[in-house]
Amino acid sequence: MTNIANTPNAPSTPSTPITPGTPGTPGTPGTHTGAALSAALPIQGARILIVGAASLVGSHTADHLLAAGVGEVILLDNFAFGTHEAIAHLDNHPRVRVVRADITRLNELLLATEGVDGVLLLAAYMTLGFAQSPWQAIDVNIRGAQNVIEACRVNKVRKLVFASSNAVYGYGPGIKGALVEEGPFHVTGAPPAAIMYGASKIMGEQLCRQAHQKSGLQYVVLRYSTVYGERQHYRAANSLYIMETYDKVRKGERPVLPGDGSESKHFVYVGDVARANLAAFESPATDVAVNVSGVDPTTTRELVQMVLDYCKSDLQPEIRPDAPGTVRLTSGGAFHVAHELAATVIGWQPVVPMREGIARLLAWREAQS
Ligand SMILES: NC(=O)c1ccc[n+]([C@@H]2O[C@H](COP(=O)([O-])OP(=O)(O)OC[C@H]3O[C@@H](n4cnc5c(N)ncnc54)[C@H](O)[C@@H]3O)[C@@H](O)[C@H]2O)c1
Repeated sequence: MTNIANTPNAPSTPSTPITPGTPGTPGTPGTHTGAALSAALPIQGARILIVGAASLVGSHTADHLLAAGVGEVILLDNFAFGTHEAIAHLDNHPRVRVVRADITRLNELLLATEGVDGVLLLAAYMTLGFAQSPWQAIDVNIRGAQNVIEACRVNKVRKLVFASSNAVYGYGPGIKGALVEEGPFHVTGAPPAAIMYGASKIMGEQLCRQAHQKSGLQYVVLRYSTVYGERQHYRAANSLYIMETYDKVRKGERPVLPGDGSESKHFVYVGDVARANLAAFESPATDVAVNVSGVDPTTTRELVQMVLDYCKSDLQPEIRPDAPGTVRLTSGGAFHVAHELAATVIGWQPVVPMREGIARLLAWREAQS
């Protein structure tokens, strides 16, 4: 484990005040009533370790933690696909430490969690990663998660926030209507890699729950829908579509609609996700899983139109089936990922509408080129 940087303050949007709600509801994992009161971890002055920090969610969460007065934020990553660029704006910040370590190595996590109050576990392979490297994906998402949990137990970390996904509801024809926390896992008619990714997140959630039951680990699971925003990478199937659409339009090529454009997508802006992470630490909630999704769902056609509007382009989308071998996340009809429980349990709700978020993402993307 090597400290590779100690970095400068990043301008960051302060997190909104958090109103703790009532932890646990029927149909979600149970809440230990007595423990719930002690599960709140105030950010002010705390030492928070972000595992899998050198990327989209981790870098934004670090910004929000610093703005909220965190004592120290430790950014741990093995840089397998995260980059130093994503956290370069934090170089030499007096309250930031960067640690190069791998979550498949328990000894490195035991060192990194010493004296830490809270851990945010982000490191994972997503659907495209499961399609490309199933061995590594299994090691990181399952054994890696258990390593992080064990390190938290050994070093008496006060709270773990586990980044799960709406992939735990599965994909395919069974996905329609409101996806709520007690919903089933649909496997029929979906790409195997997407189902394996969802199954690995179910494993991670249940490893947290088992540790709560066996050793009293306080944790909150956040099931993000598709995250997008500044510092976007090209690894998540749905956000990749936004980037590919933008890249085409900028080259003067017609954007492609894989279908009639009515397919639902539910994204969440990364700043809203960062706020949810802070809310999960600060809330008294424990042993619970809640959805973290954007203000509203969208359709593929609306999404493409937002990109065209941003680029002031009048190109017409071309309807074209996916190329063979494309891994695409399918649903059975209009759906949305319901986020009402998060308001009750951790006092969080999304605030950035898709059009606004797309404008922020594309302004950032433009500044890169
Ligand atoms: N991005 C999305 O659309 C989305 C949607 C739902 C859920 N999630 C979940 O949110 C989390 C964060 O998403 P993201 O897009 O910021 O993630 P990401 O794909 O950029 O990965 C996070 C980081 O984990 C690091 N990492 C990978 N293997 C590691 C290892 N063995 N040890 C240490 N670090 C390792 C990577 O280098 C990367 O910087 C993930 O758990 C993901 O499953 C993401």
